[in-house]
Amino acid sequence: MAFPTTRPRRLRAAAALRRLVRETRLHPTDFVLPLFVRPGKSEKRPIASMPGHFQYSVDEAVKAADAVVKLGIPAVILFGIPDKKDAKASGAYAKDGIVQRAARAVKDRHPELCVIADLCFCEYTDHGHCGIVEKGRVLNDPTLELAAKTAVSQAQAGFDVVAPSGMMDGQVAAIRRALDCAGFADTPILAYAAKYASAFYGPFRDAAESPPQFGDRSTYQMDPGNFREALREAALDVEEGADMIMVKPALPYLDVLAAVRERFGLPTSAYQVSGEFSMIKAAAKNGWIDEKKIALEALGSIKRAGADFILTYYALEAARWLTE
Ligand code: PBG
Repeated sequence: MAFPTTRPRRLRAAAALRRLVRETRLHPTDFVLPLFVRPGKSEKRPIASMPGHFQYSVDEAVKAADAVVKLGIPAVILFGIPDKKDAKASGAYAKDGIVQRAARAVKDRHPELCVIADLCFCEYTDHGHCGIVEKGRVLNDPTLELAAKTAVSQAQAGFDVVAPSGMMDGQVAAIRRALDCAGFADTPILAYAAKYASAFYGPFRDAAESPPQFGDRSTYQMDPGNFREALREAALDVEEGADMIMVKPALPYLDVLAAVRERFGLPTSAYQVSGEFSMIKAAAKNGWIDEKKIALEALGSIKRAGADFILTYYALEAARWLTE
C-alpha cells in the first residue's frame, strides 16, 4: 500500500507512540563493564585517556563492583596490570596473580555478579605481545599451553567465564580441553572470535600498560579490511567449543557483527573498545556533541546490529542514563 494510504510519519507524531513502536531498547542488563586491576591498596589511579576509568587495587575494584551490581549490570570483565612482567607471562597464571586475587575478592562480595576473565598475555609479557616470542615472532602452539594453564588458573580463582582474546589459532579448543580435564566442564568460553588489529585500542594500551615493545599485532589480530575471514574465524571458534562469541571493535565492524550473529546464532557480543569510548568523551569535553545522546545512539546501533550484550566503558553511565 503506497502513499497516501501509507504514511510512516503517522507513527512518529508523538513521543509515546514513538516509544511504543521502537524496535531496539537498551537496558542495563545489556552491558558488561571492563575493570582494570593493579597491585596495591586503596589505589584508584585515573587513566588519562579514559575519563572516569581507573586502575584499581583489589579493594577498590570490589567497591567498583558494588556500583555495577547496584545498577543491575550483570557482568564485569577484568584486566590485570601485574607488578612484574616476564617472557613467559607468569603473572597471567600465578595462583595469586592480580586478576585471580581480584576475582576471589569480587566473587566473595558479590557471588551473583558474573565475573569474566580476559585471557590474554600482552599485559603480562615484558615485550607486550599476546604470546610466547622467539626471534621476534609470536609463536602459536607454545602460547596455547599458556592459555590452557591460564584458563584453569582463572576458573580456580572463581571466574565465571573465560574470554580468550589473543587470536591464537586453536586457543578455544586448547582451553576447552584444559578446563574439562581440570573439572571445569561447566565454565563457559566467550571467544573473541573476530578481533581486528585496530587502532581503536590506543587508549586501552595506556590503561593496561600493554603496548607491544616491537612491531604490532597484525600477525595474529585480523586485518581491518577483511569480512569473510571473520566468518571463518567465528566458525572455527564455534567448532572448537565457544559458548559465546564476540566481535571487536564494535562500531567500525557492525557489518561483521550482524553477519556473525545471523550465521551462528550463538549469544553474540561486541566490544565497544577504548578508542570508541574516548572519542565520544573527547568530543563531548570540547562541547561538540551531546555525550549522552551520542553514547546511547552508538550503543543502540551495536544492539540493533545484533549484539546480545555489549562490553563497554559506558556501562555505568549508560545504566544510569537509562534508569533516570
Ligand atoms: C588484549 C586486549 C586489548 C583489548 C582488550 N584485550 C588490546 C589489544 O589487543 O591491543 C582492547 C580493549 C580496548 O581497546 O578497549 N588482550
